[in-house]
Amino acid sequence: MQLSLPSVEKEQIIELAKNLRKPEGEFGLEVASGMNQGNREMNLNALKILNPQSTDKILEIGMGNGAFVSNILEHHEEIHYTGIDYSELMVEESIKMNQKWIDLARADFTHGDIDDLPFDDNSFSAIFTVNTLYFWNDPIKTLEELKRVLRNSGRLLISFRPKENMAKIPVTKYNFNLYSLKEVEELMAKAGFSNIRSNQFQESPLDFDGILIEKESLVVTGIN
Ligand SMILES: C[S@@+](CC[C@H](N)C(=O)[O-])C[C@H]1O[C@@H](n2cnc3c(N)ncnc32)[C@H](O)[C@@H]1O
Repeated sequence: MQLSLPSVEKEQIIELAKNLRKPEGEFGLEVASGMNQGNREMNLNALKILNPQSTDKILEIGMGNGAFVSNILEHHEEIHYTGIDYSELMVEESIKMNQKWIDLARADFTHGDIDDLPFDDNSFSAIFTVNTLYFWNDPIKTLEELKRVLRNSGRLLISFRPKENMAKIPVTKYNFNLYSLKEVEELMAKAGFSNIRSNQFQESPLDFDGILIEKESLVVTGIN
């Protein structure tokens, strides 16, 4: 027998799904701060793999409110960071949170879509994105756009939670596209990335309304 959710709860879950995809308004602010807590370990693990270098010009797509930008820029004095997000609210929040880096001309934030990036070809030495893959409409088209703005031999890093775990979370029924590790590795190879490598991180489990969900994050990297 299939259990259906009470309708009020279902509406709340749909609202949460919308705001995870694109945070907007008061609830969007709450969701963004919740993501900072729930995805902290995952973001820091992704940055360990990114391993920013002094000469890096880094692009992050879907940085939310930009809570982890300092963790990148503190590495070396010369790294430059650009963040792009299609939520205007998240761009505004990122600017507020990172004003000191903007004043030092080490960070900038832009409003825009991953599928139509407002950057020249070969602009960045590294691109990364955490928890946005679920919202890509056409992954190969998106990967081609990332390849375009990535320099030759630049690295792309995609961090996500695998479908085996995500499928247990009710919110992912609403407009999320879920992937296994193998599927993402195959997509990267199909889009023409080479040296594809993966890392897996186990985090403390998430208690989602009494359902304990394994929190595992994956990082897939490839070279342009
Ligand atoms: C689930 S949140 C993840 C935020 C943060 N990276 C994290 O891991 O906590 C997804 C973010 O990506 C942004 N986003 C989703 N699809 C996007 C797209 N097509 N182009 C640009 N940003 C996008 C959303 O606005 C949101 O800020």
